[in-house]
Amino acid sequence: MPEAAVMPLCDPCRPGPAGPPAIVLEDLVLERGGKRLIDGLSMTVPARGVTAVMGPNGAGKSLALRLIAQLVEPTSGRLRFAAGLLAQPEIAFVFQKPVLLRRSVRANLDHALRTYGTPRGERAARLAELLALGQLTELAERPARVLSGGEQQRVAMVRALAAEPKVLLLDEPTASLDPQATAAIEALIRRAVDDGVSVVLVTHQAGQAQRLADTVCFLHKGRLHESAPAAAFFHNPRTPEAHAYLAGELLL
Ligand SMILES: Nc1ncnc2c1ncn2[C@@H]1O[C@H](COP(=O)(O)OP(=O)(O)O)[C@@H](O)[C@H]1O
Ligand SMILES: [Mg+2]
Repeated sequence: MPEAAVMPLCDPCRPGPAGPPAIVLEDLVLERGGKRLIDGLSMTVPARGVTAVMGPNGAGKSLALRLIAQLVEPTSGRLRFAAGLLAQPEIAFVFQKPVLLRRSVRANLDHALRTYGTPRGERAARLAELLALGQLTELAERPARVLSGGEQQRVAMVRALAAEPKVLLLDEPTASLDPQATAAIEALIRRAVDDGVSVVLVTHQAGQAQRLADTVCFLHKGRLHESAPAAAFFHNPRTPEAHAYLAGELLL
């Protein structure tokens, strides 16, 4: 596991209006096969709100999420976590393609609640709550893997929320969904944010980032090129690379 430390209440994690950040990435480097895939990535995941991570294919967005989730160990650099945010399940991950158990929707969610240690007496009520949240009540007994893409992604989202995470990492959660299914996922994201969850959202959809994000981090070739309030990023990107990306030009 990468070196992880509880953040002191001092620089460079000075509490802002939203309080101290949840996670600070300090100069993370990830090398594989002699290649530097993540190249000195320093960024802050705030305690709440939505941080969109954007950038062309191969920029390192998914790897950045995997580093934050501690699924891969950095070659160098370190992650710092706010006190009380040190381990799973406080960081939850939803992948582009939902990975669901070959069981009913209900059983998938029940399995998650058991895994996260929800007390037996609370499980039924929590399960009903999660089903309702995902508009899945009528689909509860259906095998999860035969649901539509949008329905499966709703299961994956509420399963992640079953953990009551402090940070929710979403890797292009609506990339293959139609507008209606996308809207349902965005509603779940908003709900999580309203409940105080910090969301890190990898997305190629500028409209989605504009609807949801407070901050945009723009990655290119493993480097953070720009980190700005969403409105500033979309109206006046500072780097030529971000400008080209938003204009739909191919970045190589
Ligand atoms: N395990 C790995 N070994 C070698 N190269 C990898 C590995 N995982 C990802 N890469 C490469 O790292 C780069 C960034 O990948 P990724 O984070 O998946 O990009 P994206 O921004 O599209 O999500 C890509 O060039 C990819 O091919
Ligand atoms: Mg990716």
